[in-house]
Amino acid sequence: MKNIESLGDLRGKRVLVRSDFNVPLDGDRITDDGRIKAALPTLQHLVKAGAKVVVMAHLGRPKGQVNPEYSLAPVAKRLGELLGAPVSLAKDTVGEDAKRVVSELEDGQVALLENIRFDPRETSKDEAERQELASELAELADVYVSDGFGVVHRKQASVYDIAKKLPSAAGYLVEKEIKSLSRVTENPERPYTVVLGGSKVSDKLGVIANLLSKADRLLIGGGMAYTFLAAKGYTVGQSLLEEDQIEIVKGYLEKAAENGVELVLPIDILTADRFAADATTKVVAADAIPDDLMGLDIGPATRELFASKIATSKTVAWNGPMGVFEFDAFAGGTRAVAKALSEGDAFSVVGGGDSAAAVRLLGFDENTFSHISTGGGASLELLEGKTLPGIAVLED
Ligand code: 3PG
Repeated sequence: MKNIESLGDLRGKRVLVRSDFNVPLDGDRITDDGRIKAALPTLQHLVKAGAKVVVMAHLGRPKGQVNPEYSLAPVAKRLGELLGAPVSLAKDTVGEDAKRVVSELEDGQVALLENIRFDPRETSKDEAERQELASELAELADVYVSDGFGVVHRKQASVYDIAKKLPSAAGYLVEKEIKSLSRVTENPERPYTVVLGGSKVSDKLGVIANLLSKADRLLIGGGMAYTFLAAKGYTVGQSLLEEDQIEIVKGYLEKAAENGVELVLPIDILTADRFAADATTKVVAADAIPDDLMGLDIGPATRELFASKIATSKTVAWNGPMGVFEFDAFAGGTRAVAKALSEGDAFSVVGGGDSAAAVRLLGFDENTFSHISTGGGASLELLEGKTLPGIAVLED
């Protein structure tokens, strides 16, 4: 993969950077700016090198429509604060205003184009449409730097097609992410444990199937655990359940046994009488969830069990929260996994927007983890063993 240095002297050159600024917002307040901070090493390097830096990014899924709710204005403001110099935001992506803003850039200044997904060609399945947008973007710059790790699994104009139109390289974030994640996916030091959570098992089918021949241990928590418990024949009350996935999950249980992979499910559950922060809670055994209750977190015995499995591992990848951590009453499972990872000696990678946000929100020191990935889908697809289009294109 080519790196920034391969692009040569960038002084006075227009450098188009794809970043992932898809940050959580409450109104126009950014609730977790981790992704903006992660983009700084590349942007600061380019500023110092005297480049004219043009950043493109998306926010949410505006579906090809201009929608002020998804404007990157809060991001431009925060990025300017972090860089210590204002970042001008173009009112459009490749239109008159983008051209004006880029032409007014001085060496070492940074501008941001408005949400690239306001243009329907960005995510189009039609290659010709994407290429048309990529050509218009290419007119705004001399070289391209791919640094939006969270989107490298997307075959989109600003991620994939643009790299074929300009001299291209990976930014520092993409380089760092790939380096850390390869340590997990290629020859991990064993025991290699993967902790999976999050609400839906259907989102993680590919990754589970792949891990059943790669990992030594698979710890399953979060909403997806209930489909596993149902596959074992337990009733799960009002908990999240994907009935159409039960047969597939039964197959996973068999495959794990055949391959000698330790598939560890919750042994107790913290249940609630309703989905609310102040619900009445009760710890029950995982094979005895009452019909009228719903599981919202793993129970205390499971937390200990998972922590002991993590403590005796050499490599751990974690993707997805163990419970509804946004409600303090149901954050204990996620907190226990984060604590075990941060205190253990294993090479630890936290992936997935939610688990990374949980680590920060629960107040853990990010430096106590080996790597916190900025990518949700992208890191999962790497764990799944897939080739990612936005990476492959940088290797051509
Ligand atoms: C993410 O939030 O995982 C990335 O920004 C990708 O967003 P997307 O799933 O909408 O493509």
